[in-house]
Amino acid sequence: MLQDKIKQYSEEINQFTPTSAADVEQFRLKFLVSKGLVKALFDEFKSVGPEEKRTLGKVLNEFKQLAEQKFSEAQAQFSGTSDTQSKKEGDLTLPGEGFQLGSRHPLSLARKEIVEIFKKLGFVVSEGPEIEDDWHNFSALNFPPEHPARDMQDTFFVEKKEGNDIALRTHTSSVQVRLMEMGQPPFRAIMPGRVYRNEAISARAHCFFHQVEGLYVDENVSFADLKQTLFHFVQELYGEGTKVRFRPSYFPFTEPSAEMDISCTICKGEGCQLCKYSGWVEILGCGMVDPNVLENCGIDSKKYSGFAFGMGIERITNLKYEIRDLRLFSENDVKFLSQFETEII
Ligand code: PHE
Repeated sequence: MLQDKIKQYSEEINQFTPTSAADVEQFRLKFLVSKGLVKALFDEFKSVGPEEKRTLGKVLNEFKQLAEQKFSEAQAQFSGTSDTQSKKEGDLTLPGEGFQLGSRHPLSLARKEIVEIFKKLGFVVSEGPEIEDDWHNFSALNFPPEHPARDMQDTFFVEKKEGNDIALRTHTSSVQVRLMEMGQPPFRAIMPGRVYRNEAISARAHCFFHQVEGLYVDENVSFADLKQTLFHFVQELYGEGTKVRFRPSYFPFTEPSAEMDISCTICKGEGCQLCKYSGWVEILGCGMVDPNVLENCGIDSKKYSGFAFGMGIERITNLKYEIRDLRLFSENDVKFLSQFETEII
């Protein structure tokens, strides 16, 4: 009889005194799962007469509640610390549960810092695609057809196309071209982004890295503007008193071109391993935008002039944190990453 069974199982439940979490689980399996006894008794209930249904319905529901209540009490008893118990009761005096925040990637931190400095000088951020065509990455930038940088050794080609190969961009200078093609000066922009070069991965080289390129084009822009802008940038980034020096250099898209060194941030010019005991470290390439590049982008080179510069974010970051192995930046090792600033956004 259904009524007898309910009585018998109720007694069993009342006497149930678990001594381990395993006992609680046994209880659940016996009574509460879909093939358990509670469900079985409800199934049996379906076939009793209407008279009995009225009285037994209530008894059966109470039985179900009893089983569920016993189970949740037993579960609370074995599910960890007494903390759990208090939390269930809502003890508002308990300290909140902390949660761990991630930290910013050192390259993101450096990029942000660079961008902030130039923003204050009126530069806007401009971005472009990582998969580029030959025109934007090379031709418009005045690279002669046989220039070695186009070579298979440096460039990851994606698709060979008659006269306009598709490749992963080798520098963010491609964004200069995209920006200038869009309109007329003045342009004052910085262009952060990832670039790719076909190099064997080692502590000192990687097949991808990050650059920030800058471009300023207007009437009467001179090399003095370039020097002062970059000098100011370095004082902001590495502190007042950081020295700069410009060495003549060559880039197809700038004329004249220079490389800029700063006094070593680690030894302050005394000489250390990082600056190879010279006291100076190179941080960027720069120059006056070649008139050919302006013309290629539809800009009158008689009326306008401009300067451009480009730096590797990895290099800038290394000079701050002395990271000796480039591979660390892309290995996602939490021990490395968690050393950097945590930012609450
Ligand atoms: N694009 C150059 C590089 O990748 C850097 C650079 C940018 C130099 C702008 C001069 C002007 O090395």
